[in-house]
Amino acid sequence: MNISYLIYNLFHNRFSFKMLKLELEASKKKTKLRDCSVVDAGKNNTVTLGEKGILNGIRFFMLGDNNHITIGNNALCRGTYQQPIFLNAAYGTSITIGDSILLANNTEIHTTDYHGIIDTNTNKVLNQGKDVVIGNRCWIGLRSIVLKGTNLPDDTIVGACSVVNRPFTETNTIVAGSPAKVVRTGVKVGDL
Ligand SMILES: CC(C)(COP(=O)(O)OP(=O)(O)OC[C@H]1O[C@@H](n2cnc3c(N)ncnc32)[C@H](O)[C@@H]1OP(=O)(O)O)[C@@H](O)C(=O)NCCC(=O)NCCS
Repeated sequence: MNISYLIYNLFHNRFSFKMLKLELEASKKKTKLRDCSVVDAGKNNTVTLGEKGILNGIRFFMLGDNNHITIGNNALCRGTYQQPIFLNAAYGTSITIGDSILLANNTEIHTTDYHGIIDTNTNKVLNQGKDVVIGNRCWIGLRSIVLKGTNLPDDTIVGACSVVNRPFTETNTIVAGSPAKVVRTGVKVGDL
């Protein structure tokens, strides 16, 4: 256990039993958490982290029961306390993020709209929550928002300030805009 991370988080007022448990699990996997917090407003909610990640400024938020947030190995999440990353799973949904992903600061992932849209003829809810899946080696650019039902295949790059709201099928693309569309194909993330 890296005691300095634990003390750092304690003194920055982000201590909770759930957070302490996550810190302990992360340290066993050589994953570093900094400025992260967990809000667990329900039952049977889980956060599962992979190995060797650097996870900064993530707000894990689970509302209702049976929500699951998973991040694979070698993740690099570049949130900060002031510019966090929101991973919000609600009402029995999951956020599944693959290996070697990059999440920029101010990115948000939501599996629900939080309020219903009701069909006035049938009285049915039109906007049920849906799982979000992010593949391996994806890079989500600054201030992007990923909404319910999004599926990004391996090696997808999301342009800054995009709103992603549907499943994509082709690997190695850039998707960007609001709503996000494929703007470039045949690419992958590398060093500058
Ligand atoms: C996605 C990105 C990396 C692509 O860069 P690029 O390969 O040089 O792409 P280009 O600027 O040539 O753009 C290709 C097309 O996509 C469009 N596009 C690129 N980024 C866009 C965005 N964020 N929103 C909307 N459209 C975008 C361009 O307008 C262009 O469209 P056109 O062909 O019709 O002219 C870059 O635009 C971006 O968003 N950078 C932000 C990176 C970031 O968030 N870094 C944080 C550190 S983790």
